[in-house]
Amino acid sequence: MTTIKVRKNGPYLVIGGGVQITDHEGKPIQPDKSENFVLCRCGHSRSKPFCDGSHRGAEFDDGS
Ligand code: FES
Repeated sequence: MTTIKVRKNGPYLVIGGGVQITDHEGKPIQPDKSENFVLCRCGHSRSKPFCDGSHRGAEFDDGS
């Protein structure tokens, strides 16, 4: 089973395999780690759709 965990003031942590990510044209995008990876939700990552840690510098606040 794949789980997506929302991290406080941070990215979406995708845990587990079997998830395919594609770009806007449907072309596959490969994460660095095939099992677990993090997706940006702050908008500041330079390697979207993945989180690169920029949310910390941007002081992203998810309002929770
Ligand atoms: S959530 Fe980490 S860079 Fe956006």
